[in-house]
Amino acid sequence: MTCKGTETTTTELANGVRVPLIGLGTWPLRGEDAAAAVSQAISNGYRHIDTAENYANESAVGEGIRRSGIARSELFLTTKFNTRWHSRSGVREAFGNSVQQLGTDYLDLFLVHWPNPAQGRYVDACEELQNLVDDGSIRAWGVSNFKPSHLKAVQGAGLAVPLNQVQVDPEHGQPDQLAYHRGHGIVTAAYSPLGRSGGFLSHPAVDGPAKELGKTPAQIVLRWHVQHGRVAVPKSADSQRQQQNLDVFNFRLNQQHMAAIDALETGAAPRLDSDTYFH
Ligand code: A2P
Repeated sequence: MTCKGTETTTTELANGVRVPLIGLGTWPLRGEDAAAAVSQAISNGYRHIDTAENYANESAVGEGIRRSGIARSELFLTTKFNTRWHSRSGVREAFGNSVQQLGTDYLDLFLVHWPNPAQGRYVDACEELQNLVDDGSIRAWGVSNFKPSHLKAVQGAGLAVPLNQVQVDPEHGQPDQLAYHRGHGIVTAAYSPLGRSGGFLSHPAVDGPAKELGKTPAQIVLRWHVQHGRVAVPKSADSQRQQQNLDVFNFRLNQQHMAAIDALETGAAPRLDSDTYFH
């Protein structure tokens, strides 16, 4: 278990693998920008980096990791593959491509990026991911952008889904989706955890506790994710922002703070509908 002071900075997947609660998101960084941001993040203390085949930055992320000098075993590396690989042999090929690009020989977490239900092969992909865990190629698997209907199909094949990475911020809490995760032991990872527009960062429910506790609004929102037990992968190439986004383990929001941020929920659907959008 990883602790900072008395606080746990990781969460546990159903198979016992621990995931650092804060990771560096890397979309849409590419090339030298991505390599520099990753290397800087690692020197700022990040131990979890989140990338994807579709971000077209896996080799740059690998370069950033090499440049940092960190031991591979110190790092938690997540990537995701596209729907063209949704078959037994395809998932193996996607794994081979990602580890080659990243310059590693294993992944900590490998995710189905989108379900693509019209293609209808995401259950096959999940079954092969479990085989990759069983043979030691990856430490854990998960999915991304899966609605409860997609999760049910995977579970119907006898697989427990360890983690689902979905868009979550104070205005896009997807209450039914997250309740489904809680009810089935699925860890939630939040992408765009600070929102794209960030309008709520100046809302009194966020700005109030920021002033009261001497934190930035982004830290308050990331702390809200962490206290809900969620992994969050905020992206920033800016060193100061990277540092503040990771520095959310030395204070607590009280029940009123948490409830006020929860109340920002709009009920809006995520930006992209995974029944129709995929890559
Ligand atoms: P920037 O990259 O300029 O730092 P995503 O939704 O892909 O996770 O993007 C996160 C957004 O939040 C980016 O626009 C990023 O801007 C911004 N951001 C990241 N960290 C902070 C922070 N500490 N304060 C304010 N905005 C932030």
